[in-house]
Amino acid sequence: MGFPHPPHSKETVVLSKYFGDEGARSFDGWVQRGGYEGLKKALGMTPEAIVEEVKASGLRGRGGAGFPTGLKWSFMPKNSGKPHYLVCNADESEPGTFKDREIMRWTPHQMIEGCAIASYAIGAELCYIYIRGEFTDPLRITQAALDEAYAQGALGPNVFGSGKRIEMVIHRGAGAYICGEETAMMNSIEGKRGNPRIKPPFPAQSGLFGMPTTINNVETLAAVPHILTRGAAWYKGLCLGSPKSTGTKLFSVCGHVMMPGNYEITMGFPMRDLIYDLAGGMRPGRTLKGVIPGGSSVPIMSREEAESALCDYEGIQEKGSMLGSAGFIVMDDSTDMVYEIYRLAKFYAHESCAQCTQCREGTAWTTRILERMLQGQGKAADLQLLLDLSEQMTGKTICVLSDSCAAPVVSGIKKFRGEFDRYLSGAVNPETMPAVVGR
Ligand SMILES: Cc1cc2nc3c(=O)[nH]c(=O)nc-3n(C[C@H](O)[C@H](O)[C@H](O)COP(=O)(O)O)c2cc1C
Ligand code: SF4
Repeated sequence: MGFPHPPHSKETVVLSKYFGDEGARSFDGWVQRGGYEGLKKALGMTPEAIVEEVKASGLRGRGGAGFPTGLKWSFMPKNSGKPHYLVCNADESEPGTFKDREIMRWTPHQMIEGCAIASYAIGAELCYIYIRGEFTDPLRITQAALDEAYAQGALGPNVFGSGKRIEMVIHRGAGAYICGEETAMMNSIEGKRGNPRIKPPFPAQSGLFGMPTTINNVETLAAVPHILTRGAAWYKGLCLGSPKSTGTKLFSVCGHVMMPGNYEITMGFPMRDLIYDLAGGMRPGRTLKGVIPGGSSVPIMSREEAESALCDYEGIQEKGSMLGSAGFIVMDDSTDMVYEIYRLAKFYAHESCAQCTQCREGTAWTTRILERMLQGQGKAADLQLLLDLSEQMTGKTICVLSDSCAAPVVSGIKKFRGEFDRYLSGAVNPETMPAVVGR
């Protein structure tokens, strides 16, 4: 999974152009492919002008929430007299999502260059690249690239002779889903338990070590050098759907498709074409049942919704779900939806940091109710109980992990109710029930 495929003619390759090209990993190789031109250009601009350029491009955060990147940078205080920090979120813990690790594996300098431009734009004295502990290969490659960038003067006290200082370090996480959440990540970097913090204060006011901080996803930052070299108007023009969703985006497609992998498409590309054409469609004799498009933390889309949606923030929202991290989990008609939703609930129960009662208890109860349903011991009132629980778990907690557990449950019951009813009515043969204990 994740090994690059030859680009499909319908892809628009910007970020993934050099995936699979080992020569792009080195500093010289990256420079030969046009790398570090964006940073050189940025160094000749004022930080304010860079922020305006990124604003004008329409770039939105690729980590899940889709917040406009230039606007986020503009929230950083001016002349605060305090150290500022940039955190590059390379935790990529969302199920079904495997794009950031490929950016780091094949084009580490693309990310480093983006981090350097962002650091200069927000006045960061240090950029932390927070990388998931399990990403051994991307870590080794990114560390080597960072060392080379320092040796070549692309980082350090006098970047490319400009007199400007840009500093960067890698911080290796220990592998917890919740540490991908921005405030939990800041606690983790500070050496504390990775618990999310209550917002406000937002990171731009009080972030890492209590100082003004910006956190961006790897893919967001990797897009920045291209915006600087090719211009905001070019980036904004990459748009097939809503004008609020611009540029290209890596979509990680996994599950029951013939060709799982990362596909880079222009925002607004039809989801039907992504699934049936680029990703090769369903396995022989199988039909599409549903898609979870934003990693696992968003409502499940039915076949009809998926086949008529456009792949951008608004297009997927129109169909009742969210783009999130654009990790598409594709499920065909062999899928037991009750079991899959149970697996997700179990994941969230395991990953909850347990600060909020609704999340700590809600994710555990949801798992237990689904487990007993799968064991043929469900009760008639269980569906309503799951819906009530989900309501209590939504919009009431410190972070949205709790909401993320509720989203597939609520949408699953709404769209695939018959499958739950089969378990509750005893119509499922105990011999064919999925084993749940110990899995
Ligand atoms: C439970 C949870 C896990 C998250 N995991 C990640 C992650 O692995 N990578 C990521 O970039 N953002 C993740 N996010 C989103 C971050 O909090 C944050 O919004 C993002 O890094 C901001 O960058 P962006 O504006 O460039 O998207 C997560 C959020 C939550 C609530
Ligand atoms: S919602 Fe869950 S994961 Fe998020 S802070 Fe509360 S308990 Fe922790």
